[in-house]
Amino acid sequence: MSEATERRLLIVDDTPQNLQVLGGILREQGYKLSVAQSGAQALEVARRVLPELILLDVMMPEMDGFEVCQHLKADPATAEIPVIFLTAKTEAEDVVRGFELGAVDYVTKPFNPPELLKRVQTHLELALLRRDLERQVAEKTGQLRREHEERLQAEHKLAQARRLEGLGRLAFGVAHEINTPLQAVASNLQFLGETLPELQRGLEQYTRLHALVRAGQVDVAQLKAIEEELAANGFDYLAGEWPKALAKGRSGVERVGHIVRAMQELVHSSDAQKVPTDLNQLVASTAEELHPRWQPVAELKLDLEPDLPLVPCLPGDMRQVLVHLMANAVDAVQAADRGRGRLLLSTRSQANEVVLRLGDTGAGIPARARDRIFDPFFTTKEVGAGMGMGLAVVYEVVVNRLGGAIAFESEVGRGTVFAVHLPR
Ligand SMILES: Nc1ncnc2c1ncn2[C@@H]1O[C@H](COP(=O)(O)OP(=O)(O)OP(=O)(O)O)[C@@H](O)[C@H]1O
Ligand SMILES: [Mg+2]
Repeated sequence: MSEATERRLLIVDDTPQNLQVLGGILREQGYKLSVAQSGAQALEVARRVLPELILLDVMMPEMDGFEVCQHLKADPATAEIPVIFLTAKTEAEDVVRGFELGAVDYVTKPFNPPELLKRVQTHLELALLRRDLERQVAEKTGQLRREHEERLQAEHKLAQARRLEGLGRLAFGVAHEINTPLQAVASNLQFLGETLPELQRGLEQYTRLHALVRAGQVDVAQLKAIEEELAANGFDYLAGEWPKALAKGRSGVERVGHIVRAMQELVHSSDAQKVPTDLNQLVASTAEELHPRWQPVAELKLDLEPDLPLVPCLPGDMRQVLVHLMANAVDAVQAADRGRGRLLLSTRSQANEVVLRLGDTGAGIPARARDRIFDPFFTTKEVGAGMGMGLAVVYEVVVNRLGGAIAFESEVGRGTVFAVHLPR
């Protein structure tokens, strides 16, 4: 038993004679021993030498073995040391109590030396195996944790890359959209600036004419000279072009403003709190407000589920969602050019969500556009008619702000249904 030579045991007994007998048997097997003759001493020695196993007498004055065991188990430094009770009492309830306190075994006195040695050896091996197992588990856990952290980091990087990509696309779109009207503004301003001196010269001619008329000195030759100068400066042409250039410049500025407002709608993170909202009421009132928009183009039918549960919602944002969806539906009906169309707005409650649907009998969404309709600045409409921001805003509100989902079904030439799912 060469292994046993390094193994230190603590034996605790208040009877010196018992310690001698027990010590003799164990020493013979090569175990190193520490001894204690009282509970208090046992605790002190155990904490100091950290034995690999403790043989603990139950019946001792002052602090009995059970109490010692309790203290050992309560201290993290000694909690893992296996304890074998030595007891003269064979009553079952004592044994049970010993096990409840965390002992691994018990031996009754007077003991049978081979049996005692076998038990000691078994528990030392078990303790060794357990430590080994714990080490393996700890290693495996560490490895899993590292892998998990690596995966989290990779996911985070990917999400960041996607966000940047989205941001890049958005920035590209904004730059592109703003560039055209801005160029119009710039070229019209340039025209106004370059032609201002000519216009001023023309005005000077008129001022001169005015002075001559006033003084009653105007003659045909002078009049002719002034007319020639005005014609040479292209005064009539400029007088006609200036208002047009100003109007073009102003419309360019308006378009830029429009884009900026759409961006604000998209990125503004409202600190508004969600409030329990009656979606039916919101749908009905928004439909009513939009009456001038849809009435010339289509019939609108409402099919609202009675007693619809309230949903946590941002009513202002949700109203915008409806405005954008309705605008698209009306545009689609007009694009279909099949006379008056039909729109159906419905609400339904399901297990844990409320679904709002808007169906139209419009032109439908062509297959090649379906992947992109929620992208900012994606539009199939003419320049000036659509900016491609409506569904981007709808997506932002429904998915990102309200934690819902949006889906659509569409058939070219028949129509489209958009479904907004909001969690209850
Ligand atoms: N109900 C619909 N029927 C057919 N096509 C639709 C419908 N709703 C959206 N689309 C398609 O999705 C595209 C993107 O819609 P979105 O509302 O984002 O932009 P837009 O309507 O073109 O412009 P904006 O809303 O900024 O005025 C539209 O150009 C159109 O092709
Ligand atoms: Mg739209």
